[in-house]
Amino acid sequence: MCRPEHFDVTYAINPWMDPSMPVDTALAVAQWETLRSTYESLGHQVDLIRPVEGLPDMVYAANGGVVFDGKAIAASFTFAERQPEGAAYHAWFDEAGFRPTIQAGAQNEGEGDFLVVGRLILAGTGFRTSVAAHHEVREFFGAPVISLELVDPRFYHLDTAMAALDDRTIAYYPPAFSGASNAVLRQLFPDAIIATDADASVLGLNAVSDGHNVVLTDRAVALHERLRERGFNPVGVDLSELLKGGGSVKCCTLEVRA
Ligand code: ARG
Repeated sequence: MCRPEHFDVTYAINPWMDPSMPVDTALAVAQWETLRSTYESLGHQVDLIRPVEGLPDMVYAANGGVVFDGKAIAASFTFAERQPEGAAYHAWFDEAGFRPTIQAGAQNEGEGDFLVVGRLILAGTGFRTSVAAHHEVREFFGAPVISLELVDPRFYHLDTAMAALDDRTIAYYPPAFSGASNAVLRQLFPDAIIATDADASVLGLNAVSDGHNVVLTDRAVALHERLRERGFNPVGVDLSELLKGGGSVKCCTLEVRA
């Protein structure tokens, strides 16, 4: 995770961002601290990357790369505003001892667009991460990668429209995906939880699950109920300031799979 000391909305690279809206950085830090202590109280270890001044989106650590089987690929960002983050995350992976650690050659926004479900990697494209990056990730990790086309600009990263809940269960919002991708998802995940418009529009799917506890925004009321029905334990947090940048729980969290 990356403490949002320098968080602000000074440019707009997704439809959630409005630079004319004031941001309360101290409140963002306080909300983020609650998320961090939520993970720790659930028994998870949280490692931190040093925030860099002038990189207001660096709090969205999910975008820093993908770590799988002890190997790491650092992001190659779409927009100039975020490009310097790639090198910072690359250095972090390298220092943490992931071997090999490489920098993505193709446009790749890390776990924003790559969700690990068991041994399968689901991959989004359409707004940020390229199909070339899906191939690169498959070759690097030697794991199957399923390409999914995102079609609604509000759901510009895969993790805004889908959550990985355990090794075989996902939740997603069908209108965010193309017709063909919906057909693929129905075939692969017939038991998936389907999110409502209301859940999706508060980024309720931008969640982190350890297979039982699912940390997500407290605003996604119906999704909390559906998770409970399926035996998961939803844990609600308020990340309203971070939503102004177009992110919620998952965006703030890069999962490190050693
Ligand atoms: N403002 C950031 C951007 O547009 C938000 C990133 C959200 N991260 C995520 N994993 N969806 O790039």
